[in-house]
Amino acid sequence: MTSRVWPIRRLVAVIGTLALGAATFGCAVPPPEIPPQLPLAATRIPLAITADSLFWRTLRAGDYEGIPRALSTLQAAYLQNPADAQTAAHVGFLHAWRIAERSRMAQNSPLITDDAILARRYFDQSESHAPSYDARIHGFDAVFRMIEGDIHRDPELWADGLSHGREAITAWPEFNWFTIGYVLSAKPDTSAYFREALEMQWKTVDACGRTKVDRANPTAEIALGALRMESDPLRKRACTNTWIAPHNMEGFFLNMGDMLVKSGNWRTAQKVYLLARGAQGVEGYSTWPFQDVLDARVRDAEQNVPAFRRDNGLLMFGSKFSCSACHQTVVR
Ligand code: HEC
Repeated sequence: MTSRVWPIRRLVAVIGTLALGAATFGCAVPPPEIPPQLPLAATRIPLAITADSLFWRTLRAGDYEGIPRALSTLQAAYLQNPADAQTAAHVGFLHAWRIAERSRMAQNSPLITDDAILARRYFDQSESHAPSYDARIHGFDAVFRMIEGDIHRDPELWADGLSHGREAITAWPEFNWFTIGYVLSAKPDTSAYFREALEMQWKTVDACGRTKVDRANPTAEIALGALRMESDPLRKRACTNTWIAPHNMEGFFLNMGDMLVKSGNWRTAQKVYLLARGAQGVEGYSTWPFQDVLDARVRDAEQNVPAFRRDNGLLMFGSKFSCSACHQTVVR
């Protein structure tokens, strides 16, 4: 079904992270307020640029109600130029956001599942037109295959998604361990997939810190000290707070804490939650809109164990901030 697109991905994944960094992300970190970009098509229509700017404003404001407006502008741009990989990816991300934070809606409609199908379709489209490989889009595309597989109870589609997810991890582990593990956080706490997903979060912490973190006693200095000197652009982008993900570290540790609670290990979870707050170099913590959520999580860690095992909607993955925890900068 996907053979049209994937063989190239496999090849690139084998070439490895270093070559990829040079080819795709070798450019310097852009100055603030200029949105960093996916590899761009040679020419873009003016509407695509307007639509991107509306896209970033909406996501950074956590303006979930603004999704239809941003989507219709992006889609108008897409219809004029379906070969623009960035426009296609951003249409996909808006569908992804809408389904991910569906608990914001007063009433849940079964129609929401269409967003998963559309997200995957537009990520596919983005990949097939991208002038170079983007492991982030590959990772999102993979997890939306898994989500679709769950919706349609199609284990083959789910397994196909996971295998693409593993390729995306090979290409950019620090980004995609989180992405793939995040979706697997919804699996039962006793399952092998859930345990592997938690392991993926620890691996991210180890890789970002360039160390082996003491899992019984993770401290900010050991987990994050190395990031102050980090010069590898892929690591910096996946492991620190950036223009694209201004509260990446806070969101990452909030989710990891939730997963540890679900695993039953609530004492370690409390320490991991505190990495979000206490981490040196987490500039921006004071402007993070979800500090109250974190405080409550630390306080209620023990009693949340059975609750999180029972109801995935209580985890960050099923929450009203499953994207906004990392991407929203404005308190609403
Ligand atoms: C744990 C934090 C975290 C969560 C949760 C998260 N992201 Fe991200 N997101 C990141 C990081 C890190 C990047 C990569 C930053 C980079 O490329 O420099 C990223 C990249 C992106 C991009 C950039 C695409 C581009 O054009 O460059 C978009 C859009 C995006 N995420 C949307 C989402 C959506 C939608 C969700 C929810 C389904 C989500 N993210 C959940 C951290 C997060």
